[in-house]
Amino acid sequence: MTQDELKALVGRAALEHVVPGQLVGVGTGSTVNHFIDALAGIKDRFPGAVSSSAASTERLRRHGIPVFEAGEVQRLPVYIDGADEIDHRGFMVKGGGAALTREKIVADLAQRFVCIADESKLVDRLGRYPLPVEVIAMAVSQVARRFAALGGSATVRADVITDNGHTLLDVRGLDIADPLAMEAEINQWPGVVTVGIFARHRASVCLLGTALGVRTLVF
Ligand code: 5RP
Repeated sequence: MTQDELKALVGRAALEHVVPGQLVGVGTGSTVNHFIDALAGIKDRFPGAVSSSAASTERLRRHGIPVFEAGEVQRLPVYIDGADEIDHRGFMVKGGGAALTREKIVADLAQRFVCIADESKLVDRLGRYPLPVEVIAMAVSQVARRFAALGGSATVRADVITDNGHTLLDVRGLDIADPLAMEAEINQWPGVVTVGIFARHRASVCLLGTALGVRTLVF
């Protein structure tokens, strides 16, 4: 199976986690696009979605799925999203699609985070994938210097402005041995909007697409 077929497999498998009669939190990315397309087939079973990006909102609406603002909702039973890396504890790196801030906001509303990913995303240790960090433009150099002090090399993602109007850094060479501590530390730096380490908002479950089918990891 190709990587895209594995993404489609887990996108369909995630339908089982949609709670009938309840809103569903929807992430962003190519794996989630498969999930949204599958969701269209059961749209009469739930009232709508809370979306994590303009791109997902547009795709949901095209399928006729109502989209609600995060501010209208107090709690979601489940948030379903992809990842750039996930480790064996459910800690993730996210933001490859530049939607990390809204993803963390919607994930924070949810009781469960269901990660959907092809098997290439499962890693023993986070950090091979460049860490996305959304930063307010005037702080870019300052934040890049802080990353250099940790051994990382930050570059501005060319031609990308986030849905929130900010700059995105991709940081290579970091050793993310303690995802919870590193997330907490980077979150304190002035100018950082969101760091793409999802440790406090780690996955509860991961549906991993493999050549043998869907493998379910419970954390
Ligand atoms: C977007 C994300 C995505 O979930 C992540 O980049 C994975 O994307 P894909 O499903 O296309 O591999 O964090 O900001």
